[in-house]
Amino acid sequence: MNPPIHWPAEAIWEAVAPALPGFTVEVLPQLDSTNTELMRRARAGRLEPVLLVAEQQTAGRGRLGRDWFSDARVHHGSPDSLTFSLGLPLSPHDWSGLSLAVGVSVLQSLHPDLQLKWPNDVWLHERKLAGILIETASLGDVRYAVIGIGININERDAAGLATPPAWLREVLPGVDAAQALLRIAAPLVHAIQAFETHGFGPFQKLFNARDALGGLTVTLSDGLSGVAQGVDGTGALLVQTAQGVQKVTSSEVSVRPLRPPAYENL
Ligand code: BTN
Repeated sequence: MNPPIHWPAEAIWEAVAPALPGFTVEVLPQLDSTNTELMRRARAGRLEPVLLVAEQQTAGRGRLGRDWFSDARVHHGSPDSLTFSLGLPLSPHDWSGLSLAVGVSVLQSLHPDLQLKWPNDVWLHERKLAGILIETASLGDVRYAVIGIGININERDAAGLATPPAWLREVLPGVDAAQALLRIAAPLVHAIQAFETHGFGPFQKLFNARDALGGLTVTLSDGLSGVAQGVDGTGALLVQTAQGVQKVTSSEVSVRPLRPPAYENL
């Protein structure tokens, strides 16, 4: 039997509630998915702001209909992965770039070596450390946003993963899931509120400073390829192609590493 995990629910509540009335923090030992649960609640009319943490997810979901596998093992009272969702009513003037702004906030809370692979995969040394899944539900005039984040905390193997993993202890030795959540939660709420008021504009420079794709040749799922040049003021990825600069807003981008010409025919 694992010892109980000490989640910093009260400290997070104290840092967030003054700016987000009605906010609560909830930790459950097991759920299918924190995103699925908050979307279920929203559809049932429950639109209160909440941070929902699952110590274990049995049916985690990723972007583009993929599964999200997180490590359910517990070492020294801390799960090997952190899985949580923040749900809150949100009414920005323009939604474009929200997921990028969330990525910027997560990076700033964790470590300067982390980068973002557009739109919002968190990378460490070209391996995926965390993923972000944002969903929304509309009820009458109110739109409820569910911002789900999964982070590898401890070393894990690559079985079942689409991209090779990185983990947070590589750059923050000894950090545990509870400490990572404490670092991320309040700044994330404040970043989302800044996004709601000001849109993506203030995040553009911050994203481009941590852009993992900048200057790399990328291929898009529609077959187009070119050199990634950061994002514009709406969060669209700019790709310099033979036909000029293309703006990518929704396709999945995969990176093709550049090789010096001399190696090309080897
Ligand atoms: C991705 O990279 O494809 C996004 C992964 C998002 C995973 C998190 S874990 C917490 C929340 N609940 C889910 O089912 N998914 C998100």
